[in-house]
Amino acid sequence: MFNDYTQKAIEVAKDAGKILREGFGSSFTITNKEGKNNLVTDYDRRSEELIIESLSKSFPDTIFLAEESGLSRQWNNDTPIWIIDPLDGTVNFAHNLPIFSVSIALSIDNKIVSGVIYHPILNELFVAEKGKGSFLNGLKLKVSNCRSLDDSFLVTGFPYNIDANPSHCVEQFVQILKKGIPVRRLGSAALDLAYVAAGIFDGFWEINLNPWDVAAGFLLVEEAGGKVTQYNGDPYWITNNNILATNGLIHDELSQTLISCYLEITNANRS
Ligand code: IPD
Ligand code: CA
Ligand code: CA
Repeated sequence: MFNDYTQKAIEVAKDAGKILREGFGSSFTITNKEGKNNLVTDYDRRSEELIIESLSKSFPDTIFLAEESGLSRQWNNDTPIWIIDPLDGTVNFAHNLPIFSVSIALSIDNKIVSGVIYHPILNELFVAEKGKGSFLNGLKLKVSNCRSLDDSFLVTGFPYNIDANPSHCVEQFVQILKKGIPVRRLGSAALDLAYVAAGIFDGFWEINLNPWDVAAGFLLVEEAGGKVTQYNGDPYWITNNNILATNGLIHDELSQTLISCYLEITNANRS
């Protein structure tokens, strides 16, 4: 039912997930990348090597943008590009918390056309293909039908430089918490988006994410009937600095809350 690209991405995500499952809880080297708590383990690298090797055998002409190795070669917009996070949730993995995923997406002509997210510990395989819908272990997904922000169940994340509080993200979080809305922080943006697609969460927002964190999840949410924009409602692309993904029904309310909080602080700082 899925095209060759999606089918191969599924196979590869499962193989990479197997590596992560085997490594989970074992002893491995953890090193710091730039910034505090921005970790990388042997398993991030092993997973990424397997994914790139396997995909390039099947699709020798495609380009790769992967978290640990960067861009495989110069990219012009019309060449298909695989966007890969070999282990999303490295901090969880490094601390033996079983919430992490493999995320693989394919972009053609600046559109995400295939997206696969695999949670190897729960064996949850999320798949989306442009125009065909989103699926969890073969079952079609639909976003939730919660209509009001007050009744919603939300998820968010914070950048590694949260101590600098970029774009007032701490105040935005507090503002939403103060409404008494339950908000979770899982530590894997790819899973956050997959769970919005699955109707578990009604909405997700975060700043400073990278294309590999969001590419597959972006398609999953859209194909499950949800809405993805920037905080202010402008169209979203994976290189934008902030993402707001919801079931569509609470989108405007959440967007207004995030933006009004930002404007209040910015104006107060000016005067
Ligand atoms: C991180 C996770 C986390 C998000 C961070 C990301 P990594 O990815 O997606 O949820 O809050 O901003 O960098 O480093 O575990 O691949
Ligand atoms: Ca990531
Ligand atoms: Ca990662």
